[in-house]
Amino acid sequence: MSGLNAKLAGQGRYFGTAVRHDQLAELPALRQAIVSNCGAITPEIELKWAALEWERGRFNFQPVDDLLAFADKNGLAVHGHTLLWGQSIPPWAQAHLEQHPGDWSIVATYMTTVLSRYRGRIHQWDLVNEAIDTSEQDNLRRNPFYKAFGPQYIERAMEEARAHAPDATFILNDYSLEYDNPVDNARRRAMLSLLEQHKRNGTAFEGLGMQAHLDLGKGHVNKRILRPFLEAVADLGMEIYISELDVQEADLSAPRDVRDQRVSDEVQRFLDIVLEVPNVKGVTTWGLSDNLSWLNSEEYKRLDVKGARSAENRGLPFDGCWFPRRTE
Ligand code: G3I
Repeated sequence: MSGLNAKLAGQGRYFGTAVRHDQLAELPALRQAIVSNCGAITPEIELKWAALEWERGRFNFQPVDDLLAFADKNGLAVHGHTLLWGQSIPPWAQAHLEQHPGDWSIVATYMTTVLSRYRGRIHQWDLVNEAIDTSEQDNLRRNPFYKAFGPQYIERAMEEARAHAPDATFILNDYSLEYDNPVDNARRRAMLSLLEQHKRNGTAFEGLGMQAHLDLGKGHVNKRILRPFLEAVADLGMEIYISELDVQEADLSAPRDVRDQRVSDEVQRFLDIVLEVPNVKGVTTWGLSDNLSWLNSEEYKRLDVKGARSAENRGLPFDGCWFPRRTE
């Protein structure tokens, strides 16, 4: 064991990265960086419903199995991302949910198939991804699952999941929980009350996933607001996973060493806060190198109306040339 994982492993934690099977197959430098630095991997796309069952009943497990084979060979754990996410539903299933609201059967088949296949191999799952929307009165996003089954879809998913993987850790994974601004503050409150509600109902999650897509445009993370939130989650008896860590830069025109220092300082600030909380069990970055980051994908750049993303964002542990940043 070495690299980024070594220090965390000494604390009973792990360091991991998201990775795609195609990149893993094509890039020896990526394979080497993962083996040297990670204790776990998260399939970036391959375990999402749309990736697994694009055609009804025809599951494409090969990409996941390729990632698992690599993980097995190198002694890595695998974090399952993600069972229910409103943005990764195959079109046929989306149409079915719209046309037959209340019919849980396709969700049941999908969850049963996936959880049974990987039972005993994948021990932690993002059960529901991105459920919070504070613009709604009950703070729950009106995704296709909510529209088809109402707010109970989360509880139902938990029951379904437990039946097939009774020993697994099930996680509620979400974003924008990190900063001190009205949006993030409201999202933390909403998340906490959702977790409390599930605890009261006997459908408690074992874990909270904090995506931690840090953003220098939002200022800096601070302990005063983050620490009490993490402690409140821990007081519910839950583990916490930093699940998609990266940093979006605010000023891509600054000199490179200045930019890298800003990124590094923000990550350090964040880790100093979260790693003080014993319930934080793992830190996963959303990719290992900038050239493979979703923040530098064409799709993401297109979403940036200001056109500020024409330069490459440098928010991951390695740059496009696999040059490592400060990692202590
Ligand atoms: O590989 C195809 C390419 O052949 C095609 O030309 C291109 C056209 O758009 O699409 C490519 O596939 C894209 C794939 O990423 C690889 O780049 C998909 O369209 C695109 O939807 C997919 O996006 C992924 C996204 O989740 C949706 O699954 C991102 O890589 C992945 O980083 C992102 O991850 C999410 C987490 O799951 C949840 N939290 C936020 C995070 C970032 O958005």
